[in-house]
Formats: sequence, structure tokens, C-alpha cells
Amino acid sequence: MMWRKALVPTGLVVLALLFAAPAGATEEPIQPIPLHVDYDKEKAALGQLLFMDPQISSDGSVSCHSCHSFDHGGADPRPVSIGVRGAKGNANAPTVYNAYFNFRQFWNGRAKDLKDQANGPIHNPVEMDMVPADIERYLASNAYYDKAFRKIYGRAPAYDDMLDAVAEFEKALFTPNCKFDYYLREQTELSSLEAAGYRLFKTLGCITCHNGINIGGNSFQKFGLIIPYTWKPIFPDRYDITRDPKDKNVYKVPTLRNIELTAPYFHDGSAKTLKEALTKMAYHNLGFELTDAEVKAIEAFLRTLTGQKPAILKEGR
Ligand code: HEC
Ligand code: HEC
Repeated sequence: MMWRKALVPTGLVVLALLFAAPAGATEEPIQPIPLHVDYDKEKAALGQLLFMDPQISSDGSVSCHSCHSFDHGGADPRPVSIGVRGAKGNANAPTVYNAYFNFRQFWNGRAKDLKDQANGPIHNPVEMDMVPADIERYLASNAYYDKAFRKIYGRAPAYDDMLDAVAEFEKALFTPNCKFDYYLREQTELSSLEAAGYRLFKTLGCITCHNGINIGGNSFQKFGLIIPYTWKPIFPDRYDITRDPKDKNVYKVPTLRNIELTAPYFHDGSAKTLKEALTKMAYHNLGFELTDAEVKAIEAFLRTLTGQKPAILKEGR
């Protein structure tokens, strides 16, 4: 452990590090995105059409893509999402890229998987505001959809099958081959600045919460673990589900993959830049005030996490 000025006893951080010790001593705490993920190509192609289709919303103005843009790393450049009839949501939309690898979905983990998740925005009055019967009617009235659903699912378009197709498409939204994954596979070296950033990421303790295949997405943690972060209390946190006071301001740790593409940051979209986000993280969750050099190094490391655009998005259409 390096010697540095901490705002709180470093013992806390050391303790946290011990907790997160990876299984094998030589094992890296972060794993690369696989080069291939098995998914059903026909279902995914149908799911892609549905993902892009604003007719799935009550006023025909909002598709999944409206808030999860492929030009923005699968996330929303607006601090909070805007739904049908211009309704303002209360959260920043996380990326759909690599969401398949998250242990739960949503900031507070209330959906168990992608299919369960897709059900959410469709009903949400400030997102798509639709009822299943209307969606089924629309899909059956469209000759292309009607044929595709019958062929793939063997029955008339059904709401549940629609969720299944969208989830299958999202499975295909994985972004392999970022520079850091090449490094993990020993196929490239990091620059000295990037390597210094990765070392800091581990020694400061970021790694205790941001680890695994998604560098996050695998645990619930408090925002403001060491120094309280005052947030907008309207947003549902883990406490909203468990009613356990220690879950106040606890969220699913977001993935750091493609993080340079997905500003603004945090559940409330309050951090405009990556620099601001990582500086606040170090302060509130670890109790460190980073030097400019440390910020630069960590930022350089985080920029090695940008992978290739999902192959399914490059296959025409
Ligand atoms: C109006 C904007 C909006 C629309 C439309 C929308 N989303 Fe989202 N999405 C969000 C927001 C905001 C969140 C975070 C909400 C929360 O956690 O409570 C989210 C969360 C998600 C997540 C969870 C990711 C994670 O890491 O937890 C997935 C997956 C997702 N949306 C997929 C979809 C799909 C599929 C559709 C279309 C059926 C869709 N979204 C439509 C705004 C939107
Ligand atoms: C105690 C667990 C914990 C530690 C330690 C931690 N984080 Fe986080 N991180 C989180 C949680 C939880 C969030 C989501 C906060 C929110 O939006 O409310 C988050 C969010 C972020 C975000 C914004 C992601 C997004 O999509 O909005 C970045 C960037 C980030 N962390 C980087 C870091 C860095 C760099 C460090 C080390 C200096 C670090 N984190 C340490 C738990 C942690």
C-alpha cells in the first residue's frame, strides 16, 4: 500500500481491499469481454427492429434507442431521460452495452434479467407508457412483424415474445477488444500513464467495487461510503426495495466499460465529465482527494476500456 494523505484512516480501504481479494493470487480482478456470445440470430434481428421502433410507445415518439443511443455508447447524453409527451424521468439511462453481464438490471437492481427489465420502460408512464394489448395489436397489424413472430415463435405476436426478442438483441450488444482486454490477454502493453492509472485503480480501492467482467455490475454499493453524497431523494435506491436503512443511497455499481462514451455520469446525471465522476468517486467512496497527476492517470486507464461497437450494429440495416 502506498503512503498518501487520506481524509479518513486508510485502514478502512485496506479492509475493503482484503474483502475483494480475487480467487487466485495471480488472477486479475477484471476479466475480458468474450470474443463470442451465443445468441439466436433471428430473434436478435427481430429484437433490433423492435428496439428502434417508436411505435412501441403510446404517442409513437419514443423507442428504446431514444434513451439508449448507439452513438453514445448505448446510453443517454441527457442527464435524465425524456419519455413520451416530453415527460422528464428521474434517472440517467445506463448503457445497454454489455448489460447482459450485469447480475441485475436497473440502478437499484429491481429487474432480475434483460427480459424482466424490458417490461419496465414499456409500462412506465414517463417512458413509453404502453399496455401489452396495444403492442400486440400493433405488431399483428404490421405484415413484417406478424410474419416474423409466427416464424420464430410459432404463434401470433405476443407481448412476452416481444420482450424475449428485445432481450436476445441486447445479448448481442457486447463490446469486445478494448485496449485493456488486449492487455489482459497479454496481446498489448499499456502506456506508462495507463499502467499507472490501473495501479492506482487497484491500490486506492476502486477495484473493490468495480471488478469482474463489467468492471462493475456485480454488486450493490453505497454512493458516499466514506463521505456522504447528498443526492436527490426522489430516486429509488436499494432501500426502496429492501426498506433496510443501510441500503439508503445504495445502487448497483455501474459498469466502467465504454465509460468515456457515456457522459453524463451517476444515477442522477450530475457529473458532466469523466474527470468529475472519478474525482467525486475517490472523494465520497474512498475518502481521497486525488492530485492532478492521479486524476490524469486514472482517466487514461478508464479510456482503455472502450471496446469495439457491437458487431450486430455493423451488419447493415
Ligand atoms: C424514456 C427513456 C427510456 C426508454 C424509452 C427506455 N429506457 Fe432503458 N433505461 C432508461 C433509464 C432512465 C434507465 C435507468 C432506470 C432505473 O434504473 O430506474 C434504464 C435502464 C435500462 C436498462 C438497465 C441497464 C442497467 O445497467 O441496469 C436496460 C437493459 C434498458 N434500460 C433497456 C431498455 C429497453 C430494451 C428499452 C425499450 C423496451 C428501454 N430501455 C427504453 C431510460 C429509457
Ligand atoms: C464502495 C464502492 C465503490 C468504490 C470504492 C468506487 N466506486 Fe465508482 N461507483 C460506485 C457506485 C455505487 C456508483 C454509482 C453511483 C451513483 O450513480 O449513484 C459508481 C459510479 C462510478 C462512475 C460513474 C459511472 C456511470 O456510468 O455513471 C465512475 C466513472 C466510477 N464509479 C469510477 C470509480 C473510480 C475511478 C473509483 C476509484 C477512485 C471508484 N469508482 C470507486 C461504487 C464504487
